[in-house]
Amino acid sequence: MRILFATSEMHPLIKTGGLADVSASLPAALQALGQDVRVLLPGYTQVLDALKSKKVVATFKPFEDQAEVRLLSAKMPVTGVPLYVLDAPHYYCRVAGPYQYHLGGDWPDNPMRFGLLSRVAAMLGSSSSPVNWQAELMHCNDWQTGLVPAYLHLEQEPHAKTVMAIHNIAFQGNFDHEWAKHLHLPQSLYHMHGVEFHGHLSFLKAGLQYADRIVTVSPTYAHEIQATEMGYGMQGLLTVRSAQVSGILNGIDEDEWNPATDPHLSAHYDEQDLSGKAQVKQALQQRLGLEVDAQAPLLGVVSRLTYQKGLDLLLECLPILLDSGAQLAVLGSGDAEFERRYQLLAQRYAGRVSVTTRFDEPLSHQIMAGADIFLMPSRFEPCGLNQMYGMRYGTPPVVRRTGGLADSVTNASLDGGTGFVFDDPGVAALQQTIKWAIECYRDAPAFRRIQLNGMKKDVSWRHSAQLYLELYKASMAKQDQ
Ligand code: ADP
Ligand code: GLC
Repeated sequence: MRILFATSEMHPLIKTGGLADVSASLPAALQALGQDVRVLLPGYTQVLDALKSKKVVATFKPFEDQAEVRLLSAKMPVTGVPLYVLDAPHYYCRVAGPYQYHLGGDWPDNPMRFGLLSRVAAMLGSSSSPVNWQAELMHCNDWQTGLVPAYLHLEQEPHAKTVMAIHNIAFQGNFDHEWAKHLHLPQSLYHMHGVEFHGHLSFLKAGLQYADRIVTVSPTYAHEIQATEMGYGMQGLLTVRSAQVSGILNGIDEDEWNPATDPHLSAHYDEQDLSGKAQVKQALQQRLGLEVDAQAPLLGVVSRLTYQKGLDLLLECLPILLDSGAQLAVLGSGDAEFERRYQLLAQRYAGRVSVTTRFDEPLSHQIMAGADIFLMPSRFEPCGLNQMYGMRYGTPPVVRRTGGLADSVTNASLDGGTGFVFDDPGVAALQQTIKWAIECYRDAPAFRRIQLNGMKKDVSWRHSAQLYLELYKASMAKQDQ
């Protein structure tokens, strides 16, 4: 099957969160299943710099009244997955992040930047493809590629079928309606059963409305977003299209996240021998200026610091846990107020709390391996990858039972379990559950059982990539709108 995976980030080229990890590992897993899968990605400065060998395969005008762009072809370094890089320097070659400038504000021309990406993806799935290849199936990811199904809807048949993947419905790409004109979206699509959402042009709604299938990154989240509070206004549309909505749990890249070989770690370990984990913990305590203490339960957090992740709840219940001897290592950035509050905590508990507020890939691996317990008290979590990395690294996660956390972590018990799960999104439940995890940590044989259950769990892409393939086939078999 000729599949185009259209995405706005891809590890290790450019990353702000889990979408980047999925964009690297799912196409590779589909390729391993024998599919002709290619990835379309904007040519951000970081991407152009990282890809040493690339060649121009097309120069064209996606919108006739706007500048020419180029399509470059390249291959992903390790997996060899073919890439199309959209080279439009006026949009993508900027210092700072893919969506935001340094002060944290969104680039004001994001509608054009990602409208262009969507337009080019749609061209690659239609007879106006600028290269000698035409996708049969388009896998779109989040609002940044939400206009792809709308553009394809305007194309002559036959064109690619579309799967719209929701990684996070809280991000919708809703913009002033004036942008519709610049993006060549005709007035005929601008209505409540089209791309209009409360007087705005909505990229995500466009995708949800016109895609052949809608998929989210876990089965539980697929249900949750059809209910009022978690649908962020899209629940009505999703309920109407419920027959086309499904959820497939993400997998992880088992080579990238493997404690036996991880190049970011100073010692290695596996299920047979966990002694290397103690060495990594010691190195981490040293690196972060924490008291070197093998017995102190070290709690780890690697996360965007946002409301979604529930890290304000954690702030409230930490003092009592720290006073009882726990340590905390936080790596995360995002909301300025959260960053400030975490930094204050680190000052107050010098030697017991370390807070690093930047994006740091090696440190994320070191915390995953060196911590004893991983904390992820998300208010909502479409899938979450960190809890799976935690399980693989023998660092059982404390999670709230929501979205992909509910689908991937089972509660510790005498005969099984891979982590510690709570229901109520409040401080008391979180505090109680972390306390329970710490008690369990102090009971070495019991804790070891939970660690091993997690390390042995299959969190690979094998099963889920197969499910995606079935979904693609179903969406190509018939137009069941
Ligand atoms: P989300 O995509 O909602 O942020 P996920 O758990 O799916 O959550 O994925 C987050 C990814 O981003 C993981 O690979 C995690 O290790 C990484 N990550 C988050 N914050 C940082 C950071 N400050 N430094 C390095 N990696 C980070
Ligand atoms: C989003 C979600 C996260 C998910 C990731 C990859 O960023 O917040 O839960 O794991 O996408 O699908």
